[in-house]
Amino acid sequence: MEYPITFTLNGVKRSVSVPADRYLLEQLREMGCKSVKRGCETSGCGLCTVWMDGKPVLSCTVLAVRADGHQITTLEGLQPEAKILGGYLADEGGEQCGYCAPGLMMTLLAMEREYPDRAPTEAEIRHYLEGNLCRCSGYESHIRAAVAYFQDKREVK
Ligand code: FES
Ligand code: FES
Repeated sequence: MEYPITFTLNGVKRSVSVPADRYLLEQLREMGCKSVKRGCETSGCGLCTVWMDGKPVLSCTVLAVRADGHQITTLEGLQPEAKILGGYLADEGGEQCGYCAPGLMMTLLAMEREYPDRAPTEAEIRHYLEGNLCRCSGYESHIRAAVAYFQDKREVK
């Protein structure tokens, strides 16, 4: 059984028909959003993080039909910011295989919006990133990159 849904994907209204049991992860990849990665598929790794109405959700466990009427954002829709944040990750040696990077960046860019007036502390960043796993690193390069990114962004405001 398929259901018609309409949602906004990266600023563009899209209407599609989706099977009742399809997850958003699958739907977004089929619609060309290859930044959305598949990892555990059990809400445990953060690789599939996208935004629903500006808040991070794990697309591997959100049914596609739930996107109906909502705004969905993937890293494809945040390219200028992603490029800047990606530069910080590269500078700190945090890019490595890169498989976790889109989910990590979606989480950090959401965090940025939750701290409009100050840079979050390192402890706050570590807490916020608890759900984003990386098989390559000990996370130190990610944390250094995030701290530097938030500090620099706040200084130029
Ligand atoms: S693939 Fe969704 S949390 Fe791991
Ligand atoms: S850099 Fe390889 S999984 Fe994180």
